[in-house]
Amino acid sequence: MVLFNVSRVETTPFDGQKPGTSGLRKKVKVFKQPNYLENFVQSTLNALTPQKVRVREQFVLLLPEEVASLDDHIASSPLGLYSSLNLSQIDEGATLVVSGDGRYFSKDAIQAISLTTVLYCMLDYELFVGYWFCARQPEDILCHFIIIKMAAGNGVRRVWVGQDGLLSTPAVSAVIRERVGVDVSQLVSGSRATGAFILTASHNPGGPNEDFGIKYNMENGGPAPEGITDKIYENTKTIKEYLTADVPDVDIAAIGVTSFGGPEGQFDVEVFDSASDYVKLMKSIFDFESIRKLLSSQKFTFCYDALHGVAGAYAKRIFVEELGAQESSLLNCVPKEDFGGGHPDPNLTYAKELVARMGLSKSNPEAEPPEFGAAADGDADRNMILGKRFFVTPSDSVAIIAANAAQAIPYFSAGLNGVARSMPTSAALDVVAKDLKLKFFEVPTGWKFFGNLMDAGLCSVCGEESFGTGSDHIREKDGIWAVLAWLSILAYKNKDNLGGGKLVTVEEIVRNHWATYGRHYYTRYDYENVDAGAAKELMAYLVKLQSSLAEVNEIVSGIRSDVSKVVHADEFEYKDPVDGSISKHQGIRYLFQDGSRLVFRLSGTGSEGATIRLYIEQYEKDSSKTGRDSQDALAPLVAVALGLSKMQEFTGRSAPTVIT
Ligand code: G6P
Ligand code: ZN
Repeated sequence: MVLFNVSRVETTPFDGQKPGTSGLRKKVKVFKQPNYLENFVQSTLNALTPQKVRVREQFVLLLPEEVASLDDHIASSPLGLYSSLNLSQIDEGATLVVSGDGRYFSKDAIQAISLTTVLYCMLDYELFVGYWFCARQPEDILCHFIIIKMAAGNGVRRVWVGQDGLLSTPAVSAVIRERVGVDVSQLVSGSRATGAFILTASHNPGGPNEDFGIKYNMENGGPAPEGITDKIYENTKTIKEYLTADVPDVDIAAIGVTSFGGPEGQFDVEVFDSASDYVKLMKSIFDFESIRKLLSSQKFTFCYDALHGVAGAYAKRIFVEELGAQESSLLNCVPKEDFGGGHPDPNLTYAKELVARMGLSKSNPEAEPPEFGAAADGDADRNMILGKRFFVTPSDSVAIIAANAAQAIPYFSAGLNGVARSMPTSAALDVVAKDLKLKFFEVPTGWKFFGNLMDAGLCSVCGEESFGTGSDHIREKDGIWAVLAWLSILAYKNKDNLGGGKLVTVEEIVRNHWATYGRHYYTRYDYENVDAGAAKELMAYLVKLQSSLAEVNEIVSGIRSDVSKVVHADEFEYKDPVDGSISKHQGIRYLFQDGSRLVFRLSGTGSEGATIRLYIEQYEKDSSKTGRDSQDALAPLVAVALGLSKMQEFTGRSAPTVIT
């Protein structure tokens, strides 16, 4: 067994390492600065385990007589930190924490995280490291190696890596919660890993001049809550050193376990198949047989676009190998490190090829579009659902899934515990929740807010307008799950039509839903890369305006006389019903008498400048009026939103960058 040593590396803080809505995202060149990644990883490890550090301190301070005699290897450690550890206690899985610095140790991204944790929590700390993108570039591999080495340096007992470093965000969440075939007696927390560093910038473009990101997920499989991310940020401001180990690089292309001997004992790096755990989970949720019948039916045509993200690896396994779809139904399903130069965000603007194939672009292809199309983002947690020449808004999608889940998806056959949506997401889900008498929650933007509700058994299905849909099977949104949910609904509605009879289409499912529940016309305008100061001023102006509704209504009626009155305006604030934590400043809302809403918020996922998001929604109950074009229907409210916010005046922009 190869032995390794642990060392401390002095460092100084970097500005701006505040995790956003979903981890730390910056340009690659920012991450490439020496110690930039290491500082963040160490700050994260330091944010996670204070009690473990204290236990270690007590051990050293209170029980010096129990200190084991020095192992030769420990004695030769340049740190002289570990001489007091009793190896037999470590083998029993004791939580031994080295004060302060013991938990981190560092060198490169995947290969650095592991050694740091070995030092302070040995057998009770299993860390899982995954990343979404194609890690074949030397610097990407380096990034993994940095984290593995830091894990070893910090006392992590073992690191799990998806083969080639590839794992989708939902697969990471699934694997943290349950790794199939693992000797659970080795994991202190049952079959769960302790957490995960996910290396992704999600839907942001990739490549040397684009974005990189890292986020930490907790033992429940969900993103770190604000309490932890705030601590991480505080740590990044004061960090002075990090821990790393001279663990040799592991071949992350080869499945298997490589073990090393550190100052405190064994450290394992296990490379495993990226898809099998996830596939098994999907099979336990959905009726694959009925979906297979649908997909293999001559009448049903299908198209899936992974936008060259990691979803491609799962799409082939699930849609083609398991469910019998044609290989030709997969578009851009080879993961690429730069997403083929594209923007891996599944919306009508960026998923151009799919949009054209589905007959939705102006230059209609001649071929008849498929019945169903879907796309995913870079790390495969987002989804876009399309029918033939038809777009399903994410807000409608979650409402329709919730309305049909109990009938169409075996996992939900006993009914839903409750449903939830983010604040800017349309109220389509609210209407379903009311009808089905389900518990309902409105949370701030960011998937992490759903996790607490799910852990408390309060929420089964949830979704966001930002193309995120999911359930309590994991603690992340799940792009492939959403597609399987839709295929399940289609299979259920068509179970008697596959032989003869006309297929019920995606469009019909949505229109029938509107006829039953009413329609929430919805659109989002994004103003990307706006000057950060100007964006702040616009938001401050909107908050100030809220103090006088009379003044607001005067402005509104001056712009359009055909919209209803603003009856309430506020900054959204959320009190978590489970842990009581409060999240303030979660977006500015203007609520109208007829149920219409305007919401303004600043994006938390950009890496440059500011992005202003404007969400516009109008409810139409009258089933004879639910078939309009949404931009036409919303035109008056759009005019009001732009006028009220003085969008052009503040930002200099006469049009949004993206409309969804
Ligand atoms: C990420 C999160 C989502 C969230 C979205 C918001 O994708 O995982 O939960 O809805 O960011 O992004 P924004 O750019 O609007 O802050
Ligand atoms: Zn994503």
